[in-house]
Amino acid sequence: MNQTSRDGFSSRFGIFAAVIGSAIGLGNIWRFPYMVGENGGAAFLIVYCAFVLIIGIPAMLSEFIIGRRGQGNSYRSFKQLAPQKPWYWIGLVGIFAAFIILTFYSVITGWTLEYVAIALKDVFSSSTVVQDPAQVFEHFHTQALKPLIWQIVTMLISAIVIMLGVRKGIESSAKILMPLLFICLAILAVKTLTLPGSVEGLRFLFSPDFSKINSGVILKALGQAVFSLSVGMGCLITYGSYIRKDVNMSRTAFSVAIADLLIAVLAGIVIFPALFSFGMAPEQGPGLVFVVFPGIFQQMIGGVYFALLFFMLVAIAGITSIISLLEVIVVYFVEEFKLKRVFATLVAATLACGLGAFSTLSFGPLKHVKIFNQSIFDNSDFLASNILLPLGAFFVVVFLGWFYDINQIKDELGNQGTLKMRLFPVFMFIIRYVAPIAILLVFLKGLNIF
Ligand code: PHE
Repeated sequence: MNQTSRDGFSSRFGIFAAVIGSAIGLGNIWRFPYMVGENGGAAFLIVYCAFVLIIGIPAMLSEFIIGRRGQGNSYRSFKQLAPQKPWYWIGLVGIFAAFIILTFYSVITGWTLEYVAIALKDVFSSSTVVQDPAQVFEHFHTQALKPLIWQIVTMLISAIVIMLGVRKGIESSAKILMPLLFICLAILAVKTLTLPGSVEGLRFLFSPDFSKINSGVILKALGQAVFSLSVGMGCLITYGSYIRKDVNMSRTAFSVAIADLLIAVLAGIVIFPALFSFGMAPEQGPGLVFVVFPGIFQQMIGGVYFALLFFMLVAIAGITSIISLLEVIVVYFVEEFKLKRVFATLVAATLACGLGAFSTLSFGPLKHVKIFNQSIFDNSDFLASNILLPLGAFFVVVFLGWFYDINQIKDELGNQGTLKMRLFPVFMFIIRYVAPIAILLVFLKGLNIF
């Protein structure tokens, strides 16, 4: 595939929307608020912000540099930058990680589509039968067929976008979906902030409790930052290869990181006041979104509409992240095996659904299948989030910081000498020392080595 025929992002906003589409996901909407709440509120937030700034942004930038310099999928980009060395393995492992994340991430996103469907049904039926949300969730997610169908639907929607290409598919859809997501979230925030007792929730979210900060919490904050910014699995290398040469990548990375952070905080502003207003305890895992929220919406005036809005929001967040994961694999198939884009997408989506089915079924028929004492779903999550992802991020910064020509980095980051590079030494220091050490700590913690 030659340079000129390579698809890519057309506008600066398009790049921003696509990358933010990848970054904002299930991780922002419920995982982040919960972590903030459980780990010292604003104290956690401060640590998290520091990690986003000093590790998240430089790691994102490193991936952008590798991708734009290499002009290829995450495997090919490494091959271009280090032709004789085995660094391309990082790219390959990244593609594998994207695949694994796809298999379990599509399960939860599929669930959100079921909840969009339930909300739609409620909106259009005149008499709503009030059901216990816990029972509804239990009944739904332990079945075999329905969750599988929603997983396939999720993958199909994402596949169609991918088939349309980078500019017409990924960029165009993100330009619509991301503002829509923001509007949904803003409407919900206004709604929950005006609920009686919402101040309690805000206090829970924003008052710092430094006594909760310990090494475990710090490492959790770092893990969350890396996951939330989609660093470590070749996503940003792939997207980086679509960024035009005249775009200021530092600015893109910075604005994406800030927007990702703001959306996560906004999600917290939606979730905690609502929880506290209805006297519910913040709890971890799928339950928060799929059990607690429907319960809250049942008690709200106009709750069915807010339920629809909320689950659409989570579904959009999930699908735009899935799109970015799928793209990593598809463009690898296209460039390395010379497959047609449409066919490559079908192959990748089918493989992900095939393997993903085991994750879906691990809540129902395959509940008793345990590997290392965990379900198939939890194993996939653990393998990707705690092993592959930190390793990927670690090697990306180490490669760029220690094994690649600093002048080339400067050239790529500074758009061939046209940008001012005052923070360049800081960037190099971080990718050489700060980021690798910090990421290594997360990795060891993830494996419970200390
Ligand atoms: N950043 C996404 C989230 O916060 C997860 C994700 C990771 C998506 C890696 C794509 C690639 O949910």
